[in-house]
Amino acid sequence: MESQVTPFVQILYRSVARHEDFHPSDLDILRTAIKFNAAHGVTGILLRIDEQFFQALHGPVRDIEALMARIADDERHQNMEILLREEALDISPFTDWSMSYDSILGFEQELGLQEDGTYPLISTDRARALIALFAKTATSVATYGSAFPFARLSGENDAAYLERLDGLA
Ligand SMILES: Cc1cc2nc3c(=O)[nH]c(=O)nc-3n(C[C@H](O)[C@H](O)[C@H](O)COP(=O)(O)O)c2cc1C
Repeated sequence: MESQVTPFVQILYRSVARHEDFHPSDLDILRTAIKFNAAHGVTGILLRIDEQFFQALHGPVRDIEALMARIADDERHQNMEILLREEALDISPFTDWSMSYDSILGFEQELGLQEDGTYPLISTDRARALIALFAKTATSVATYGSAFPFARLSGENDAAYLERLDGLA
């Protein structure tokens, strides 16, 4: 039988969180994500950017599509906008972490709400660059640590991260 190559995709979307700022329900999302993603070869990062979520996901197309349908229906956010969806190499830019989590301020990357009440337009090229930037952010956090207490620590595996999150909130 001919062997079938599983297509991989990467996605970047943004959405508006139900809670304006970090909220313990973010950690519930993270807990679910770590467990599910690790079991399905999905990797990525969830970023809290003021009242927005930015999430990058990488994985087998079928798993990602099913997951995206569930995420789109989730009441913990709204106005989901896909900024990039494209075929990807099977090697993840997020190496082997199932889901990372961090926080930056909107003005740092000009991603925040603008004075006219809209969010900035993000081109495909910018979206691709953001995925690389977010992956780099998580990598440097893994090396240097983060001021954000909920970020994954250097060398922390899924089980240890989950255990520490339970102690935090
Ligand atoms: C911003 C955001 C990101 C999420 N990311 C993931 C994820 O990466 N993996 C995951 O399994 N669930 C994620 N979820 C949770 C899903 O929406 C959903 O609750 C979960 O897949 C369980 O679905 P079920 O209750 O239908 O079984 C996310 C939710 C939100 C609001």
